[in-house]
Amino acid sequence: MYKLILKARGQEFKYTCSADVTPLRAARNQFIPIPTGCQQGGCGMCKVKVLNGEYEQKLVRSHEALSDEELANGYALACCMIPKSDLEIITIEDYEKVKNEVQIR
Ligand code: FES
Repeated sequence: MYKLILKARGQEFKYTCSADVTPLRAARNQFIPIPTGCQQGGCGMCKVKVLNGEYEQKLVRSHEALSDEELANGYALACCMIPKSDLEIITIEDYEKVKNEVQIR
């Protein structure tokens, strides 16, 4: 069982995720508010930036949901990845806000 930290909606949520479950499924099972859409790698609603930890990105059905470049830069789809260690992830929405705040300073 891995420990996950999800940054979403300006908050930090800590929860657990087993090695054969996606972070999205584990979050939903524990009533953690993670953005969710198709749950099949097609829409990109669940896109996250991985801040820490190891993971395996499984099948992505649409390049619009996750491009090769994003994949190479540590972005992932929470609905079709599995953790390989403890993970710290942040939703794209929150990550963009943090990036903008850093640029403003
Ligand atoms: S929920 Fe649609 S790509 Fe993950």
